[in-house]
Amino acid sequence: MEELLSLLRTYYNDNPDELILSPWSLGYSNGDIPPHWKITYELLSKISRDSRIIEVGCGVGDITVIPCSLEFGSIVSYERSTELADAATHKISILFNRTDVVKKGSFPEGNVCLCDVLLVVNCVYTDNVKSHQDYLNNLRLLYTSAGSPTKYILEVIDSSYSVPDPEFPEYIRVSEAEIRNLFPYCKISSFVSYQYPTNRRTKKIYLIEK
Ligand SMILES: C[S@@+](CC[C@H](N)C(=O)[O-])C[C@H]1O[C@@H](n2cnc3c(N)ncnc32)[C@H](O)[C@@H]1O
Repeated sequence: MEELLSLLRTYYNDNPDELILSPWSLGYSNGDIPPHWKITYELLSKISRDSRIIEVGCGVGDITVIPCSLEFGSIVSYERSTELADAATHKISILFNRTDVVKKGSFPEGNVCLCDVLLVVNCVYTDNVKSHQDYLNNLRLLYTSAGSPTKYILEVIDSSYSVPDPEFPEYIRVSEAEIRNLFPYCKISSFVSYQYPTNRRTKKIYLIEK
């Protein structure tokens, strides 16, 4: 993990303009590593490297570098912003000499791609979501669109976060009981990635396993 973080830090020192594109990447250059990154690293490091990975919303590839550095063979990372996808492609090709990872476009829209591990971390959006039920349906749609993989690593805003927040309104906040209801036959483990008021919001990462 330390080696990869040092690689990322060096990359940002050499490419400081990327931080304008993705302000959420600042921690990688100043050493304030986001908890969701460390949790994702720990979880992925325990998974068989034969597993096919799909990542939704890779931004500039700060999470994508984890499966690349752990040498997973099959990784497809979707990013719908062309500018961010180009930056991610650049980063992954410079750091890992791989050009087969980043895919421009939204997931799942029109994409047929099956995987063993679906990664949706630091990617909470309200597009086309008008109600809490819509949001829950969306979380499940991502999963079924990826072929109902054996592992789903999903970060959500936790329902215990009760502060008014237009970016993450109440109807997209999710409880552990709801995750259990959505995936009734799965083993569910949860990890608090952020805790309000220490952090701006309370977020949880779920490992949902068949
Ligand atoms: C906050 S950024 C974080 C990027 C990355 N997960 C990370 O932690 O570094 C989330 C990204 O997800 C992208 N995104 C959101 N929903 C998406 C979808 N359904 N398909 C592809 N990209 C998506 C957005 O364009 C945005 O760049």
